[in-house]
Amino acid sequence: MKRLLFTVCCLLSAVCVSADEVTAAKYDIIPLPKEVKVMCTGFDQMFAIEDGNGISYDASNAECTRIAQFLQEWVKEEADVKLQLTPDDKNAQIKLRLVSPAAPKGKKSKKPVTLTDQQKENYTMKVTEKGIELTAFEPVGLFRAAQTLRKSLPEKNGLGLIMPFVEITDQPRFTYRGVLLDCGRHFFSVEFIKQFLDVMALHGCNQFHWHLTEDQGWRFEVKALPDLAKKGSVREKSIIAPSKVRLYDNIPYGGYYTQEECREVVKYAAERYINVVPEIDMPGHMQSALHVFPNLGCTGGPYQVAPHWGVMREVLCGGNPETLTFLKTVFGELCDVFPSPYIHIGGDECPKERWKKCPKCQAKIQELGLTDESKVAVEGGDNRGSQDGRSPENKLQSYINHEIEQFLASRGRSLIGWDEILAGGLTEDAIVMSWRGTKGGVAAAKQKHRVIMSPNVYAYIDHPQLKDYSKSPRTTDSYVVSCSKMYSFEPLVPEELTEEEGDCILGVQANLWTEHVAYPEHALYQLLPRLASMSEVQWCAPEQKDFENWKKRLPQLERLYDKLGYVYCREVE
Ligand code: ACM
Ligand code: ZN
Repeated sequence: MKRLLFTVCCLLSAVCVSADEVTAAKYDIIPLPKEVKVMCTGFDQMFAIEDGNGISYDASNAECTRIAQFLQEWVKEEADVKLQLTPDDKNAQIKLRLVSPAAPKGKKSKKPVTLTDQQKENYTMKVTEKGIELTAFEPVGLFRAAQTLRKSLPEKNGLGLIMPFVEITDQPRFTYRGVLLDCGRHFFSVEFIKQFLDVMALHGCNQFHWHLTEDQGWRFEVKALPDLAKKGSVREKSIIAPSKVRLYDNIPYGGYYTQEECREVVKYAAERYINVVPEIDMPGHMQSALHVFPNLGCTGGPYQVAPHWGVMREVLCGGNPETLTFLKTVFGELCDVFPSPYIHIGGDECPKERWKKCPKCQAKIQELGLTDESKVAVEGGDNRGSQDGRSPENKLQSYINHEIEQFLASRGRSLIGWDEILAGGLTEDAIVMSWRGTKGGVAAAKQKHRVIMSPNVYAYIDHPQLKDYSKSPRTTDSYVVSCSKMYSFEPLVPEELTEEEGDCILGVQANLWTEHVAYPEHALYQLLPRLASMSEVQWCAPEQKDFENWKKRLPQLERLYDKLGYVYCREVE
């Protein structure tokens, strides 16, 4: 340390530069930590990370060991400084420490303190003359701390990595911070999924919503039904844009994930503190399954794996008992592979045209005594696929949801569904993912259901981010979701939700649909830097948010994108 001070002083006095001109760490990263106290008024209040410095951690803890390895790798690859792993070394310059949470003031108890989900991610990062200390209650907190250190790092200079003294305390606002990737419309390799997870972790996200089935392709291997993925994953051809002109490429397109690959993704995600929420979208968006099992459709088919986009009228038959048998087989294997506490059942965009005419569906409606209340307005707004309010057909969908909810509950899981599941009446434990605006989420929270907000006009990153569409690759272009638009999203509006209802909002999610996104580079371009914008909606308290300030902080993160080779949109609106 003395040597550093001496060298810094000599160097600075020799060239006569100010502190601002020294390349030093910047702690106002994205997402912005809850509290950043920089305690540096001069060069004697800086620490330099140098080659050969050690990282200490509890080597008996596998997670701490892995986090230390991550940090070592990031600092080497992104800042070109080689650190050593020195477990349990009290003199290491960088220390990762797990600490026990203190009992609340005035309450002395021998019982361990129970942490909220937010507190589990709590961490502090201190830079002092002794070095850098990262502390947390749980390994996940240490992982967040290591990401903060990584994102703060300056360019290396002759002295190493200059870190002004600081004390950072951080904790996320929401516990569910998600991103959806649609692998149904286009298939993305496991290698890219891993990169996607790395990008998510960099932005503090913790829920990967993996959209695994679509009309255009079934991507999840079901061992009991081998043809489902083998045949259902391949469409004969794909529509060539623009979609109103029915022009096809005539090239077969396919791909699916084996269960082994899915487990590999789950493991990779878990090592980055990301839960994988798998989605099997039903009873609509099922044409790829109907292609393989036409008996599951109301008309009996034949059906093709859809070669174009849109909302298809061919859906699973709601009155055929084999539909539930099929779904339980699929969701059963899904639960075997994905340990997620939440399983997404889709539920969106299920036109009821076939059900209204299908003898089996109508017989089931009779059997269940589902009455027609289609004139009863459904809270939460309804359009495509659920425009009939509490119609018997919407109630039939709710019946199927109920059966699957019970099935999932027997496996210890909760169901998530798109907000259309409000139409037929929510099942007991359903979590609503609000996509057609926020009305569905608000309505569900008022019914004391858990909610994830993902309103399309703020959170759909398949839409362009720049007003001038000609500057970007083609996307879903009905409206623009710019960084500033996304940033302005506030999921908890006091006029809409009481404090207690607000507690039902688990978090926020950005969705990347891929009708027009076929390649990893394009997916990253759609994602970045919008995920940086979304990350502050997910992580920061509303009073911390300031878009102009976010824009000033973005170049530091973009520097990291460049080092990591990420494709991103270079303009921000
Ligand atoms: C959706 O965008 N159809 C959920
Ligand atoms: Zn039917």
